[in-house]
Amino acid sequence: MGAGGVLAFGGLNLLNASGGSAARPGGTAVRYPLRRLAVTTPGALRAAPGYVDIGGGTSVGALLYNGSTPGPLFAVQSGASVEIPFTNALADPTTVHWHGLVVPTAMDGQPQDPVAPNSSYTYAFPVNQRAGFSWYHPHPHMLTSSQVAYGLAGGFVIRDAEEDALGLPSGAYEVPLVLRDANIDKAGNLAYNGTASGFTGKVLLVNGTRDPYLATQPAVHRFRILAGSNSRVFRLALSTGAPFTLIGNDGGLLPSAAQVSEIEVSPGERVDVIVDLRAAAGTTVLLRDLNSGWTILELRVDNAPPVAGTLPPGTLSTIVPLGTPSTTRTFSFDGMTRINGRLFDPDRVDFTVPVGEVEDWVFTTNGNAPHPVHVHGASFQVMARTGGRNRTFPWESGWKDTVLLADGETVRVRIRFALTGRYLIHCHKLEHEDAGMMANFLVV
Ligand code: C2O
Ligand code: CU
Ligand code: CU
Repeated sequence: MGAGGVLAFGGLNLLNASGGSAARPGGTAVRYPLRRLAVTTPGALRAAPGYVDIGGGTSVGALLYNGSTPGPLFAVQSGASVEIPFTNALADPTTVHWHGLVVPTAMDGQPQDPVAPNSSYTYAFPVNQRAGFSWYHPHPHMLTSSQVAYGLAGGFVIRDAEEDALGLPSGAYEVPLVLRDANIDKAGNLAYNGTASGFTGKVLLVNGTRDPYLATQPAVHRFRILAGSNSRVFRLALSTGAPFTLIGNDGGLLPSAAQVSEIEVSPGERVDVIVDLRAAAGTTVLLRDLNSGWTILELRVDNAPPVAGTLPPGTLSTIVPLGTPSTTRTFSFDGMTRINGRLFDPDRVDFTVPVGEVEDWVFTTNGNAPHPVHVHGASFQVMARTGGRNRTFPWESGWKDTVLLADGETVRVRIRFALTGRYLIHCHKLEHEDAGMMANFLVV
């Protein structure tokens, strides 16, 4: 199956007539129990076509990691070494990229290191970074957007002593939510019809469940949210109008908790929020996307006494500013396909960065945004945004690996690399990435 191809295998279960309808606002759609992502220690991973139930017994054809979409939710303690024997049972080359994890080049799943069909590669690396919610997805040359749209993605949680000491909601009350939009064709397969300008699906899938609800208790909840969409930008809000208590983002805990009533997340970004449902017994609270009008998740709260719990402290962590940059580089995200006027060439290295040096990287665009700008190999600190929205947001404090660049904006980030090797900078609108909005650089 190539870009824009179809899934070809037999035994299709056809969707019923309403199967393709999007989640409607206000909770009027038929809803299905949210799939709880099973947390596992990193281990063998296999990409293959197959069928999954997206709710109510509706089975769709998709590309799956270990038989599910999203794939297994890997969790490790910081300091662990992981070994993930990966098998490609797809018809096309693929890679597995560990988005948010700082790993050696050969383990980074870059387009230059494809795993051929019917072959294997073992990804092995130490996890030497603070707690946070990262993820993994394919990154093959010009096939990333279709493979992700067909279902290949999964979460990767890192825990550490600092975060553990905060006593954040855990167990049933720590809820990872992988958001993505999808299209389903008449034969009942996930369908992909992206173009250079993007891909927007008519159906929202949360942890692979369409129109989900979560039956829960009046307790303090932690939602760890990944925008796993190809192109769609979400604007999260609660139907009650109550703010989220924002505690983390791509690179883990923020320096301090922030009350925010709307949060914008673009492809690749993560946010970590606390929602106190202790006073919501017997009610339904909606997690909504204000951009599309969709209800992302219906929270059906039991009519029961509140579950004991605490809110996080105001001060969460210490983020040391990176200091004075020695160099400033500028990156213009041009049209839908280029950075600084050039298309991605896997064999060309566009610039060299000295390891351990602090640099400022400035992102600009001449249009066709949103461009969620992502860097491999290091996290960065967002320093400033001018033009457009003309400010930075609470979810952009701390450490980021992806930042949203909207039309008319200039975003300045500060970065320092600890590992040498070849890494990538690219637009995480996956259609822009595949069309060439990506560049190689060497850290030396
Ligand atoms: Cu999540 Cu280079 O990507
Ligand atoms: Cu990445
Ligand atoms: Cu872009």
